[in-house]
Parts: sequence; structure tokens; C-alpha cells
Amino acid sequence: MKELKIDVTLSTEKKQKPSFDNLEFGKHFTDHMFIWNYTEGKGWHDARIIPYQPIMLDPAATVFHYGQTVFEGMKAYLTKDEQVLLFRPEENMKRLNRSNDRLCMPKLDEEGALSALKQLIQIDRDWIPSGEGTSLYIRPFMIATEAFLGVHPAKTYQFIIILSPVGAYYKEGINPVKIAVESEYVRAVAGGTGNAKTAGNYAASLKASEIAEQNGYSQVLWLDGRENQYIEEVGSMNVFFKINGEVITPELNGSILEGITRKSIIELLNYMNIPLVERRISIHEIQQAYQDGVLEEAFGTGTAAVISPIGELLWKNEKMVVNNGEIGSLSQQLYDTLTGIQNGTKEDPFGWSARI
Ligand code: COI
Repeated sequence: MKELKIDVTLSTEKKQKPSFDNLEFGKHFTDHMFIWNYTEGKGWHDARIIPYQPIMLDPAATVFHYGQTVFEGMKAYLTKDEQVLLFRPEENMKRLNRSNDRLCMPKLDEEGALSALKQLIQIDRDWIPSGEGTSLYIRPFMIATEAFLGVHPAKTYQFIIILSPVGAYYKEGINPVKIAVESEYVRAVAGGTGNAKTAGNYAASLKASEIAEQNGYSQVLWLDGRENQYIEEVGSMNVFFKINGEVITPELNGSILEGITRKSIIELLNYMNIPLVERRISIHEIQQAYQDGVLEEAFGTGTAAVISPIGELLWKNEKMVVNNGEIGSLSQQLYDTLTGIQNGTKEDPFGWSARI
């Protein structure tokens, strides 16, 4: 892989690190960050690693007004023998470029971005926690920086990477979460930006999530925006159901995020010879399976959330308690296998882990 030439300014004062024993998600940031500028006609330029700091932008920058921005979520793990592992990092860079294309943003040099990421992690390597369920969360993102109020793709951008030592995404950890099925608001529709990792999708999700949280639910399960009955995804995760021995996940339809953990779980299930189908599935089918006693497990998948078992689904007034609200054996097995591959404690037959 070609090494990107980066100008490095190291911070003179190291920050106080939080205790790595009870890390919350996304609260602490490391000593350095990476920035790369893009100018139409000139391309990517001025790659630099600098001390972590606020960024200065013109108040008219397109990102603030029309949401021209995309992001990724990745993780780095420290192995027992002090090696640093990334999980399928090329997949994230490819997806970032698919999101860029949808948002009319310039194509990122994927190799250059990965090289920058590796150099940044080496510099802040002592921020990678090694405890059970912890990792260094990586947030690469791109913003439109041109000062211009016309609704039009910007001509200048910044690609930035920040790093954050994290524990579990949900306060429940690997324990099952309670999810409310959303019947009023929708997150995205096919033809919109639902399959791009862009801020607007997350902004659109906040209202329903806030109401769900007020009612004691961790997140919402989104239904399709047209017929309001087909399952899409859960808040920040893709979703899987085990019904009568078969695992079902909604097929990619243009409005669902193409999760890299989703893709990995599908590949893992195929490898394990566990029946798996990607297809349209309605909330009525889930309800019927529940009433028939064959809804065996439900779980979400995502970089931040890893595998998050669902212990209860609330649909209208019906509470569907899945597997007695306990983690199912398949969810546990998938969690153990995936996290084992990610943190280097289990064999990686797929070649997913990339050493830095
Ligand atoms: C991730 O899983 O990395 C995500 O991007 C979800 C995030 C919104 C927390």
C-alpha cells in the first residue's frame, strides 16, 4: 500500500486519559486528528496530522445549511501481543465513496485515506484500550466547506479522522435491549439517502428515538416509508431475526444502510451452515411468528453496537418478549466469534483483520 505523505505536528501537551475500565461510547477523543483538504480542480491536498482541536469554518459552509456530509464508523483493537488490528477497513472506504457519490461529494483516495488512518493510529496508539468489549472507535468524515448559500454541491471539502476509546454502545452492553417499533415517523425511503451514511438520516431519526427513550426503549425499529409495514433497520444497526431455525434479515433495498457488520454476519452464518435469507419481512410476520412461539431470537448488528440482542419489541400496544428477554445462543455465538476475530483471540478464516 502506498504511504500518504503527511505533515505531522505533535501535541506538546498530552491529554489526561479517561479510565479505560468503564468507557462510555464516544465521549473522549485522542491527542491528534487527521485533516485533508479538497479543492475542485486541484484535488486532495495538505494532508496533515495535528493536535486534536476545534476546526474553523465559514458560517456559510454548505455542510451547515444543506447537510452535505458523510461519515464512517470503524474500530481498532489491541491484541494480547500488542498488535493493532483493523476490521475490513477497505470496506469502510468503499462505502464512504458510495456515500460520497450519493451526496455529490468528491471521490476519496481510498488508499491514501487508509494510510492516513494507520499513521494517525500509530501516533495515538497508547489510546487503544484492551479490556473486554473495548476498542478505539474511528470516525472518518467528510464535510463541504465552501462558503456559498446556493443549493449546489460545494467546490471545497475536508476529510477528517478522529479517534475515541470506547466501551459498549448501549448501557446494556451485551445484555438485550428493548426496541420500540416506529409506526408514525420514517427514517428513509428508497430513492432517498437511506443507504448513504450521511448526517441527514440520523437527524431524521432523532424525534422517534427521543420518544422511544422517554418510554424506556433504547431505540426504534424502522419500517419502510411507503407501506409502513416492512422492516428496515434499528436506530444505528441492521437487524436479524431467527424464526423457526432460519435467520432472516431485510434485503438491501436502497433505503437500508449496507452494514459491514451485517455483511460479515451473513458471511459468518453461511460459513457456519446456518440457514440465512435476505428478504422483505413485515412486522406482521414478526408478530405472527411471536404469537406462534417461533420467534427465537432477534439482534442488531453494527460497528458501534457489534451484536446487540433484542429482548423486547413493542409494536402498537403489544410487547413481544424475545427469548425471555435473555441473550439467545446464536446471538452469543455470533458475538463471541465476531469479537474474537476482531480482537485477534479467534482464528480469522476470512482474512478480515488487517494488522497496522
Ligand atoms: C457505527 O456503528 O459505527 C455507526 O456509525 C452508528 C453510529 C451512528 C453510532
